[in-house]
Amino acid sequence: MSKQPIRGTRDLMGIEHLRHLELAEIARKSALDYGYHSIETPIFESTSVFQKSLGDTSDVVGKEMYTFLDRGGESITLRPEGTAAVVRAFLHAGLTQTLPQKFFYSGPMFRYERPQKGRYRQFYQIGVECLGYDDPYIDVECIALAHNLLKTLGIETTLYLNTLGDASDRIIYRDSLINFLTPYVHELSQESQVRLLQNPLRILDSKNAQDQKICESAPQMILSKASHAFFETVCKNLQALQISFEHDTKLVRGLDYYAHTAFEFKSTSLGAQDTVLGGGRYNDLVAQMGGPHVPGIGWAMGIDRAALLADHTYGHSKKLCIAVVPVGEEQKQEALLLTQTLRKENLYVELITAYNDLGKRLKTAHRLKAEWVIILGEDELKENKIQLKYFGENTDIQKMQIITKDELLNIIR
Ligand code: HAM
Repeated sequence: MSKQPIRGTRDLMGIEHLRHLELAEIARKSALDYGYHSIETPIFESTSVFQKSLGDTSDVVGKEMYTFLDRGGESITLRPEGTAAVVRAFLHAGLTQTLPQKFFYSGPMFRYERPQKGRYRQFYQIGVECLGYDDPYIDVECIALAHNLLKTLGIETTLYLNTLGDASDRIIYRDSLINFLTPYVHELSQESQVRLLQNPLRILDSKNAQDQKICESAPQMILSKASHAFFETVCKNLQALQISFEHDTKLVRGLDYYAHTAFEFKSTSLGAQDTVLGGGRYNDLVAQMGGPHVPGIGWAMGIDRAALLADHTYGHSKKLCIAVVPVGEEQKQEALLLTQTLRKENLYVELITAYNDLGKRLKTAHRLKAEWVIILGEDELKENKIQLKYFGENTDIQKMQIITKDELLNIIR
């Protein structure tokens, strides 16, 4: 058996894992303040939940989904993202008549991508979905939540914003892009050649240098009056909230359900996988998935990427460690009782009984960065006393003292 986790997956341990949990918890608390409610959907769904909704021509559906037949012969997909799953749950719960509905989720997602720094096959997202508003002010509020969260976490990013117009804007734009790109068809990358007829908008955000050069002079989308006004309101109100952004007309996002507002928060410290958080408006998704017309907007943040960038104090246990070390077998019960008493005081206590050797136990306490070490020895215990050692930085505190158990709490607090 290989002890190596599957390529693109990893074990999260210690500080790294704590950072993940802490970032997700901070995000959850921020979202609650904006009226989002927690939801947890299954990590696998019927393949159809993702196939149509994310778009047949998207990379996620075309090449990245973990899809398999289960033992009953049903096609199952490990969720590659949260939006379609949340919409499925929203429809299943019959919430389409009680709008708006606002959801917050966090958990693992799965995409068969080429692993590299910040890109995994099992990765973690937190996300929000707001269903029921077709209102640019809600787009601004949703972006503001992302902006404020990133700020709280100490993550520096630039916000890139674009509009993808409405469905009819995109039909017209699609044709004008095909007309523009067709003469260059043989100069385009292979991937873009395939996209030319299937999904020409995606060529605009190709990472290929030659594609990018060709797209420099590509025509821009001509927005209907209503789409233009919608975008104007988003921009104006982001400015009113002093959230700066760059209008990137080539930002199209990798999933096909977007309309109108699309945005990405990017960092310059991540290398190629530079998007920490991305999202946008999806007004047709609910109807596409079999529901009535319910507009939506949301975003998701990659926790793996956020954890690489967030303030490095996250993930460290903020409580001081107190180690309780029995000298021998006979003092273990006394040690066990004392640890329980101390934990009732909401203290972080380690009971150290590893190895049959006091020296090694003290080394373990040291490795755990214990500030206080309480040593329970036969002689002291006979007199109802304990030995207390201090390894912290306060020079006014005695390094070693023999005290009664009753004195202990007063000293270590
Ligand atoms: P997405 O842009 O595909 O959007 O993913 C959102 C974020 O998840 C990315 O910005 C990135 O931080 C992280 N991410 C994506 N793939 C990977 C990976 N392979 N490894 C590590 N991190 C990754 C969505 O998923 C949409 N559902 C967002 C949304 C919600 N739109 C509307 N509502």
